Amino acid sequence: MEQTDTSGNPATFIIRPARLEEAAAICAVLRRSITELCVADHQNNPDWLDEWLANKQPEIVAGWIADPENCLLVAVAGERVLAAGCIKRSGAIMLNYVSPDARFRGVSRAMLRALEAVARRNGCREVTLTSTLTAHDFYLAAGYTDRDDALARGDSPLMGKVLEPDDTNRPAAGAAPARTSAANAAPKPPAQSDRRQRLGQALRENLKRRKQQIRGRASQGASQEARDAAAEAAGVAVPERD
Ligand SMILES: CC(C)(COP(=O)(O)OP(=O)(O)OC[C@H]1O[C@@H](n2cnc3c(N)ncnc32)[C@H](O)[C@@H]1OP(=O)(O)O)[C@@H](O)C(=O)NCCC(=O)NCCS
Repeated sequence: MEQTDTSGNPATFIIRPARLEEAAAICAVLRRSITELCVADHQNNPDWLDEWLANKQPEIVAGWIADPENCLLVAVAGERVLAAGCIKRSGAIMLNYVSPDARFRGVSRAMLRALEAVARRNGCREVTLTSTLTAHDFYLAAGYTDRDDALARGDSPLMGKVLEPDDTNRPAAGAAPARTSAANAAPKPPAQSDRRQRLGQALRENLKRRKQQIRGRASQGASQEARDAAAEAAGVAVPERD
């Protein structure tokens, strides 16, 4: 049976390549994560949300899984999909979405590490992504930096991280840095700098409060063993795709 903490949420998870038959479950996680967690980005504007969700369809997700240019990973607790992440061979991270049910339990951080491990294995020198406003501070905390000034305009920023040289198989000198295609990133709505920045700030403060509350509850209830298992999952070795 799946291990859960006192809130009934999964305490342990693993990260592995997605299976084709998981496309619908992954799609459901993507849609919930965007709709419920990324309000600072879409501001519940139905047009922006529709545009963002348009390609989050099971058959399209199945195509991403099958595409040899992609490595699409899932974080799973038992059979339950908690999060999905996708990186291209170029080092462009296309997806990193956690289910609202599994937020603030280290799942996204573990997913990011796993995606970076894939990039290293593919010989990438750096990884890039287009961040949501929702996740911007999360990526800053993970060592990513802004690569454009989109945030100042209230738009989704391009971010990147140079991978540690120690464990990077550097490609030949002069290799072009990876760029993120906008295909799966949040659409960039018209800039509304002041309002969006205020909303982003409010969201970050709210996230910080919620995280502290949840962490407090989890540390009271989750066993050390469960926390250790989650920590171990963060460094999980990702099996070869092919
Ligand atoms: C923000 C979000 C990505 C974080 O994912 P998560 O699984 O809840 O976060 P984790 O539990 O893995 O957090 C790992 C670390 O990041 C920190 N962190 C999480 N969210 C953060 C935020 N908004 N600001 C700063 N730090 C944050 C955590 O404090 C934790 O660090 P700690 O262990 O030192 O405290 C997620 O909650 C979210 O809202 N996702 C919505 C989808 C999305 O925007 N995806 C990005 C697409 S580019």
